[in-house]
Amino acid sequence: MESIDYIKLLSRWAHILPSIILVGGAIFMNTVLIPALRENSDATQVKAKIKRTWAKVIMICAGIIIISGFYNAFLAYQGDLHPLYTGAFVIKLVLVAVVFYVSSLLTGRSEEALKFQQNEVLWGKINMLAAIAIVLCAGVMKVAPRDLPSKTDTPATTTPTVAPPTPAAAPFANE
Ligand code: HEM
Repeated sequence: MESIDYIKLLSRWAHILPSIILVGGAIFMNTVLIPALRENSDATQVKAKIKRTWAKVIMICAGIIIISGFYNAFLAYQGDLHPLYTGAFVIKLVLVAVVFYVSSLLTGRSEEALKFQQNEVLWGKINMLAAIAIVLCAGVMKVAPRDLPSKTDTPATTTPTVAPPTPAAAPFANE
């Protein structure tokens, strides 16, 4: 029986947990917090405090997500992957860059960031949709076929005279 690879498990946890915080946070802010603050005239100070705290959360989550993401990719590319996997991965990386950049501007205090925040409702929504699309891309990567026939395998030209042995055990060997 194959034993559990604890580093792999840890890397998976380290990828999923901060992803949930980032994506869930973006959805919560856009659908609950910002509409609630908009109706409150004393909200400016609260908003500034939320931005400062959220900026720190984003920085920590982004760091962990990037490290664990590259490790996951290193593991995944040890095997043969379907082009669909790579396609979804490339789109995901572009979206990740968009989300990290937009998030940093939405929570930043530089002159450029403050100018950007004049349109924060629109950019907040774009950011949330991009974050959701990242999770959808991760889903495509997850279900993309794996273990393609190796390029070095030569296709059979004649019909085999002996039937290949049927594996008696391990019915879920590809799991
Ligand atoms: C906001 C950023 C990101 C989010 C929300 C996110 C989300 C996710 C989720 C939900 C999964 C599925 C995990 C599982 O089923 O175990 C996943 C898998 C993965 N992610 Fe990310 N990710 C992000 C950034 C990145 C980055 C920056 C990289 C690479 C540098 C990356 C590489 C991967 C890889 C290779 C997998 C494994 C897919 C597989 O083979 O099943 N991710 N990601």
